[in-house]
Amino acid sequence: MKKKSSVSEISNDSDPNSVFDTGMLNLADVTQDFSMDELDRWNTLVGLVQSVIAFIEKFIPGYTAHIFYHSDESREYREIDREGVSTIPEDSIFIGCLSMVTETVPLAQFFSDYGIDDPIISHFLQNVYQGEYIVPIVHSFELLAFIIIGTSNEYFADAESSLDPSKVYFLNKLAARMRVNLYAASVSDRRQRELLHMTQFPLSLQRHSSLNEVFANLLDDLRSQIEFDAGVCYAYEQETNMLVPFAKKGISGRVAKLKVGSGISGQVFDSKRSIFVPSRKEHPFYSLVEKESFISGSFISVPFGTDKTRIGVITLCRHEDNPKSFGVEHRYMLEIASSFIASDITSRQLYQKLDESSFAVVKSLTCALEAKDKYTEGHSDRVKEYAVNIAQRLGYTDEQIHQIRYGAMLHDIGKIGIGDDILNKRTRLSDEEYKKIKQHTEIGYHILDNNSFFDDVKDFVRYHHETLKGTGYYGKKLGEYPEGAMIVSCADIFDALTSQRPYRKPLTIDKALCELKKLVGLNFPEYVYNAFEKYVHSEEFTKYYESLK
Ligand SMILES: [Fe+2]
Ligand SMILES: [Fe+2]
Repeated sequence: MKKKSSVSEISNDSDPNSVFDTGMLNLADVTQDFSMDELDRWNTLVGLVQSVIAFIEKFIPGYTAHIFYHSDESREYREIDREGVSTIPEDSIFIGCLSMVTETVPLAQFFSDYGIDDPIISHFLQNVYQGEYIVPIVHSFELLAFIIIGTSNEYFADAESSLDPSKVYFLNKLAARMRVNLYAASVSDRRQRELLHMTQFPLSLQRHSSLNEVFANLLDDLRSQIEFDAGVCYAYEQETNMLVPFAKKGISGRVAKLKVGSGISGQVFDSKRSIFVPSRKEHPFYSLVEKESFISGSFISVPFGTDKTRIGVITLCRHEDNPKSFGVEHRYMLEIASSFIASDITSRQLYQKLDESSFAVVKSLTCALEAKDKYTEGHSDRVKEYAVNIAQRLGYTDEQIHQIRYGAMLHDIGKIGIGDDILNKRTRLSDEEYKKIKQHTEIGYHILDNNSFFDDVKDFVRYHHETLKGTGYYGKKLGEYPEGAMIVSCADIFDALTSQRPYRKPLTIDKALCELKKLVGLNFPEYVYNAFEKYVHSEEFTKYYESLK
C-alpha cells in the first residue's frame, strides 16, 4: 500500500541533516542550482513548460509532471498541450484554496486540510493523473500555475511513492525559480496575443460604410483593442497648419484645436515620433505643458499618415487612479492600429476621389441629355438632391444614400435612346409616341446593366414610374420593386410640378406639396411623403431652392 506523506513529514524542520538545511555549500545543490539556469532560457510559454516538465522528470525519476497554467482567455487552468481535454475553472474552490498554499504539499493532504469536496477534480488529479504532490506557483497572490507530480504505476508497483524531503525541497526551489519566468512568459504570451488580435482591427474599420463613420467610431474601435480612460484624435488641416479634433472619449468639455508643435499631440505630430509616458505629472517636460490638461496619468500619443500624407494624431491616456497604467507595448499597439487607420483612410479617400470623378461623368451624361431641352435642364440634379434628402430623413445608411444619389441622377438616362422629335414635342403625344417615351425606363436599365457598379441602382431607374397598386409601366405593386424607386418617384414628381412647362407655369412649393400629397398611397407611401415634406420645410431646402434661381 502506498504511504501518503503529511505536510509535517516533508517540512524542512523534520530533517535537520538534509542537504538543504545544513547551511553548507553542497556540490549537488550547486549543480542543481546551476542546471536550473536552463529555465531562464525560455522563448515561449510552451517552451518553458516543456523544459520544466523535462527537468522534473530528470531529477525525480519515476515521477511524472503535469503543469496546469492559467489561461486568461478561457479563465481556467489547463495543460498547455492538452487544450480542452482537462481543465479546472479559475473560480473553483480548489483553485481558491491552492492560491493560499505556498509550498509543495501531498495532494491528498491538500484536499483534506482544506476540506475540498470536489469528487470530479479529486478523481481527475488523484486517479487519472496519479497525482501524489501538488506544487503551487503563486506570484503576487495570483496562482499562475500548479504542477501535479504523479507516480508511474510500474515504477511504484512495489515501492512507496512518497518523495524524500530533498526532492520536495527541490520542487519548492524549482517553483520559486519558475514563478518569475512563468510570470514573464505569460505576460509575453499575452502581449503576443494582443498583437495578434490587432490583425483583426482592419475588419472593424472596414465595417464602416463611409469615411465619416470611420472617424465617428475610431475611438470606440480603438477601445476594443486598447483600454483607455480618455482619448482624442486630431486631423491635420494643411491650410491652417492646425490639428482639428474630430473625436474624443472620456473628456468632458470642448477640445480645442492645436497648433502643430503645441500641446502633447501637437508636438508628437510635429516630431513625427510616437511617445509613451508612464506618468505625465512626473515627466520633466510634459508636466510643464499646459495644453491638453485632460491627458493625465500614463499616456501614449502616435502620429499617423502615409509616406506622402500626414493625416493626424491619436493620444490616449489612463488616469492616475487606474491601477493598470500604460506600458510601452501599448505604444506599439497604437502604432500598429494607427498604420491600419491611415491605410483605411487613404484608401477610402482614394475611393471617394474615384467616386467623385465617376459621378462627374454621370452628371456630364445627364447634362448632355438635358441640354437638348431647356424645360428639363437641371432636372436630374434636382431630383438627386431631393431624393438624397428624403433618404437621409428616412435614416438610410451612407451606402444606401450613395445608391440613391446615382439612381436619382440617372433615373431618366434612358431618354438618350428616345428621339428628339418625341422628347421635345410641345403638343400632346400620340399613343405610339407615349409608348416610345415609356421605354426610357427599360433603356436606362439596360445602359446601367452593363456595369456591375450600378447593380444596386438600376432598379431605381427601371421602376421610377411604378405605382403602389400596379398601374405603372411594369405593373409592379408595392413590395415588388425597391423603396429607392419610390423615393426617386416622389422627388421626380415634385420637380416636374415646380418646373416650367411649355403648357403651364411652375407650381409654387405649397401647391406642389399639395398635389404631391394627393399621390400618397398611389405613387409612394405616406412616410416617403412625410420625409420629403420635412425636408421642404427645412432651412437646407430653402437655401438650395434659392440657389437654383
Ligand atoms: Fe422618368
Ligand atoms: Fe424625371
